[in-house]
Amino acid sequence: MQAPTAGRFPYAETLATYRASGKHFVARNVTARLDGLRDNWQRIEGAEVDRRRLDDFLFVALDKVDGRYDYASYCALPVLGLDRMTAPGLTRREVLCQRDAAQLALLGDLAGFELDALEGTAEILPEKRPAPDLARRRLRLVLAALRPTLERESIVLRNAGPEGDARSVADHARARVSKAWRHRLDASMIPVHVVHDEYLFLRVLQSFEVTFAWIATVLQEAVSALPTAPARAVERLKLANVLLREALRLFPLIGSLQPAAFHDFRRFTEGASAIQSTGYKRVEALCSAPGAERLNSVAYRSVPQVQEEVRAGVPSLSAALETLRDDRASEPDDLALLDAEMTEFARQLGRWRQAHFELARRYLGERGGTGYTEGVPYLAETRQIPVFRSSPPGSS
Ligand code: HEM
Repeated sequence: MQAPTAGRFPYAETLATYRASGKHFVARNVTARLDGLRDNWQRIEGAEVDRRRLDDFLFVALDKVDGRYDYASYCALPVLGLDRMTAPGLTRREVLCQRDAAQLALLGDLAGFELDALEGTAEILPEKRPAPDLARRRLRLVLAALRPTLERESIVLRNAGPEGDARSVADHARARVSKAWRHRLDASMIPVHVVHDEYLFLRVLQSFEVTFAWIATVLQEAVSALPTAPARAVERLKLANVLLREALRLFPLIGSLQPAAFHDFRRFTEGASAIQSTGYKRVEALCSAPGAERLNSVAYRSVPQVQEEVRAGVPSLSAALETLRDDRASEPDDLALLDAEMTEFARQLGRWRQAHFELARRYLGERGGTGYTEGVPYLAETRQIPVFRSSPPGSS
């Protein structure tokens, strides 16, 4: 028998099978076949890039049957290549360009799906389709979330109404998306059920995750630069502020989820919660090392890798700033500029937490979270945690 080749793996058929029932209900014989590929991994031939792609895909596709389903596998973050997506040392323009490419790919694809559904041509996730009015509002919200990206990418909308403009964005996105991104987009849409709104939920989570990953990279650079090149730290903080401010535009979009649809697919997402987002927790810890209570709580127990990094001593902006302030040679102007950008970052993160808290309160009420917290009360508490724990620069 011929050895299977990673490059010839039938992604389209496999994805169609998964999407026909949702990952939670996919037939045992299908997962058994995929599991068989893993058992014979040594025999699978092909280029390294294709083998890695298949490995990531199987990791995501088999999470439920393996009993290790979690947030990263739910959002298909390995398939998106999130851990390889960001890199230090890029200019502001390069960072924005890469983040824009991801935003355009993810949200342009979402616009395309919503339009297809509105026009009656969407085939997947047929349950609880939004009514036309909601679908049009959602298209407007996708366009609003993408506005800064569209401006930077010189994509001009013709005021052709939500459908016309969204079609134009979806077409631009499809035309500009790289081959690598095309695969990522397709293979990262593996909902647990067959409800229309899960598409929106997944793309918005993925989009937030891309932004957290970039913010963490940029903040890491700010921490490293702070002791010797404060002006560079200020520049990186400014960039982090732009990224976070723009990400807030996703909240009205996620707020267009239909509650009944959300609760329908949420029955099968138990165990996957953004409390397991390593990107978010890295951002938090880079601002200020968590206190012992938070570090040992479910907040960091849910992200063991980050918990370990913090225990090993990740330098934070708060700590680097204390050191700079204690240095009598520090320029007051540098400290004032750092103060302004850090205050702004704390304000933006505060807005993020508040918007997220309100979202959870609206959709969950008294229900517990899928990450095994009591839900809204956990968020009510965590939104109070100071972003930076040192006193502001220049105040001493
Ligand atoms: C209807 C939508 C949403 C609801 C109802 C919701 C609810 C919750 C709840 C209850 C928690 C507490 C942990 C748990 O037990 O699960 C949580 C944590 C979290 N959520 Fe959401 N969430 C929603 C959307 C989002 C989105 C779109 C993001 C963006 C990535 C997000 C990011 C986070 C993060 C980062 C945490 C951890 C916060 C911390 O540990 O301090 N959530 N969410």
